[in-house]
Amino acid sequence: MKLTVIGCGYLGATHAACMAELGHDVLGVDVDTEKVARLQAGDVPFFEPGLADVLRRNLAAGRLRFTSDHRDAASFAAVHFLGVGTPQQRGGYGVDLRHVEAAVDALIPLLRGDHLLIGKSTVPVGTAAALAQRAAVIAAPGSHIELAWSPEFLREGFAVEDTLSPDRLVLGTDPDGDSGWADEVVVEIYRDILQAGTPFIRTDWATAELVKVSANAFLATKISFINAISEICEVVDADISTLADAIGYDQRIGRRFLNAGLGFGGGCLPKDIRGFMARADEIGASQALRFLREVDSINTRRRTAMVDLVADAVGGDVLGTNIAVLGAAFKPESDDVRDSPALNVAGQLALRGASVSVFDPKAAANSQRMYPMLTYAESAASACEDADAVVVATEWAEFVHMAPDELAAVRNKVIVDGRRCLDPSTWHDAGWRYHSIGGPMRAARSQRAPIPARTSASPQVAEAVAPPAR
Ligand code: UDX
Repeated sequence: MKLTVIGCGYLGATHAACMAELGHDVLGVDVDTEKVARLQAGDVPFFEPGLADVLRRNLAAGRLRFTSDHRDAASFAAVHFLGVGTPQQRGGYGVDLRHVEAAVDALIPLLRGDHLLIGKSTVPVGTAAALAQRAAVIAAPGSHIELAWSPEFLREGFAVEDTLSPDRLVLGTDPDGDSGWADEVVVEIYRDILQAGTPFIRTDWATAELVKVSANAFLATKISFINAISEICEVVDADISTLADAIGYDQRIGRRFLNAGLGFGGGCLPKDIRGFMARADEIGASQALRFLREVDSINTRRRTAMVDLVADAVGGDVLGTNIAVLGAAFKPESDDVRDSPALNVAGQLALRGASVSVFDPKAAANSQRMYPMLTYAESAASACEDADAVVVATEWAEFVHMAPDELAAVRNKVIVDGRRCLDPSTWHDAGWRYHSIGGPMRAARSQRAPIPARTSASPQVAEAVAPPAR
């Protein structure tokens, strides 16, 4: 099929390349001419494992092209995916729909005949209905624009895999219209994926829009739930990781997304729960999502708790200390620093008077733009030179597997694990003081060594006492 993808950011660029990988003829459209030039040259403007290969393979095969001219899009295909960004509004919790509206306004008047627009961006419920009305008003006389909404669930770091092998496909169509054409087109586009047994949920616009924000609200709630329990664990010296393993065996609960630590960040979870609350207020259902305020607040509280933990680990105050922060991206396998807990912690430490040296394998350039006052090192080892404490803030594999002697140039052997991703006994055995956010990390009680006397007054500073549970 011939398809266009409007918006070539994270979602759109991945979608365009993956649609071409499925064998379709794809034209990616973006108003940013520099981005278009880079993509056309086979250069992915952000870090996403595997995407460059898919992009280059399909450019070379002639199935994929990029343009900044909406007229190209209008004449190229009758099916258009909409994948522009929907960030949080400045100064408010609501979603900024400026890019969605601009894309519709730029494309629709140029279309002639019958066209299908399939929204993929994450939008507040009611957006599709409003856009359909807008499209009907601005469409050229005699043209017919059908609108469907098919939310995207891809995770950064797994974007190609999630697009080509999604957990499910959701298609929302006009509840008062005939969904036949949209259904037929989507079945044709995703033929291979559907034949592989992927569940396909057909529904109305509002349900499709809500599926996406509800999924992200649930994931955020799960993470904040375990982090709230970790606050209790910190007080009573219990082990949140063992607790998560134990409750995770209950299949109704499940172990995934129960990793306690610095909490969630990125371009989706934080802004999606806020946008969801803002929309609930607008439709008169504020009470329904009031709990998401607490989810948000538990999450941001982790960042301050982490800074306090670092202060305790260096003797009570970070002022005048050298702190190495390993990790700046909001999660591993990504260079995204939007609402990154790691970078937030680095920034807070600097504001409290520490001299902060950050190392991230991929996110240094993006971090530098956002937090220019921090120092950026070329390697974990150089970030740690003369450090009074080393903070692991993003669980990149190279940090999880690093050996203590790689950081031999530190001033004090103090390590603070913000993602509970290190093996405490490895660090303890090498003479380091190991601290983890969320309480002690230890094996089952029967294997526990005696708990040594505390070196810090704070109950949050949990020193490693025995091998980890995981
Ligand atoms: C998320 C959704 O997973 C995806 O379906 C949606 O399309 C976009 O938003 P993403 O933002 O890429 O994807 O990240 P995700 O893997 O969900 O992680 C979100 C954050 O939660 C990260 O900061 C991660 O470190 C944190 N997290 C995740 C935890 O703190 N604990 C966990 O157990 C899992």
